Amino acid sequence: MMEKYLNLNDVKEIRARSLIYFGCGAIQKVADVARDMKARGVDRAIVVSSPSAYKKSGAWPTITAAFEAAGVEYVLFDKNRPNPEVEAIDEALKVAVEFGAQGVVGIGGGSPIDAAKSVAILLKNPGKTAEDLYSYAFAPTEAAPILAINLTHGTGTEGNRVAVASIPAKQHKPAIAYECIYPTWSIDDPELMKTLPKTQILYTSVDALNHAVEAATTTCSNPLAITLARETVKLVVDYLPAALENPEDMVARYNLAYAALIAGISFDNGFLHYTHALEHPLSGVNPDVIHGCGLGVLLPAVLKEIYPKCAAVLADVLAPIVPGLKGCACEAEDVAKGVEKWLFSVGANRKLTDEGFGEADVPKLVDLVFSTPSLTALLAVAPTEATRETVEKIYRESLAPMN
Ligand SMILES: [Fe+2]
Repeated sequence: MMEKYLNLNDVKEIRARSLIYFGCGAIQKVADVARDMKARGVDRAIVVSSPSAYKKSGAWPTITAAFEAAGVEYVLFDKNRPNPEVEAIDEALKVAVEFGAQGVVGIGGGSPIDAAKSVAILLKNPGKTAEDLYSYAFAPTEAAPILAINLTHGTGTEGNRVAVASIPAKQHKPAIAYECIYPTWSIDDPELMKTLPKTQILYTSVDALNHAVEAATTTCSNPLAITLARETVKLVVDYLPAALENPEDMVARYNLAYAALIAGISFDNGFLHYTHALEHPLSGVNPDVIHGCGLGVLLPAVLKEIYPKCAAVLADVLAPIVPGLKGCACEAEDVAKGVEKWLFSVGANRKLTDEGFGEADVPKLVDLVFSTPSLTALLAVAPTEATRETVEKIYRESLAPMN
């Protein structure tokens, strides 16, 4: 099947590295992890979290009991915010250094886990700052051991080597990807995700969907990325409406959590392109833009742009959303409109103007795409040539609904 869109002689890198405990009740595995941490020489750890999720999820007593039983001392830094900023990472680092932390625990969604990954790098690279890290002033090869306890079903960061943070002074939101930040251990327990508000259920799932669609269509995609992408889209389409209807539906939550995890592994393999490259400036300029919402805003116009180049793979991957596609370039507009219709049907019905951006903001956003560290690396693997004109067109076509 995949031979339709893959070159059999193109040698691919296939990646799946972290040990992930996945399933309802997986949090109990933290006892094994804490013992393993201790055995690997981690006597002291910093826990990085947002202000309330670690408590609200109900995970905290289990985690502290496990650390205490294993003899791992811990210090809590719970000031991380969504769209983490380099200043907060430096603040967490200071706490970690003063405490003598040898390991890092991230609890929460993508933001605290990505901040934890960043602290893990900086602990092993004394004298460097988070801004150095996210400005690509150095390329780390070492990080402290990382435990990721994931409380959302979006980023997939618990299964990959990627992290993101904002540099507010520059309105930049770059991403990094280094071998040394695959979490050593991860815990994905859908029971802990029950307290996620509906908006987050929606937009974390839209994030996972975008990871899959992009990973399957870069110029460096591989068979694993595509297989995982197909499954991700199917699971999100099958289970997101049920989770929105009844957040207590554990079958739906389990499947969405699994979809987000495999989408994270999918883009660790296939990488990302337009949708993420163009979304990061939105939440870089306005930190109130929810990452998954920004992606949903852009996805239809991105599909219109790339479908003619990747019609065969997208016809497969998007079949659960737009059935009956033949894989012909002429379907691009129908696919874009069909996906927008589906996004609107689940409640992801915002466009750029709803997020406070107008025509006049487009040139600045385009500038940021090309000036933010790492985003041009995403554009370099986009399926079509990512010129300023192409990027501008995608932004303009995302200002208002297509349908
Ligand atoms: Fe994302």
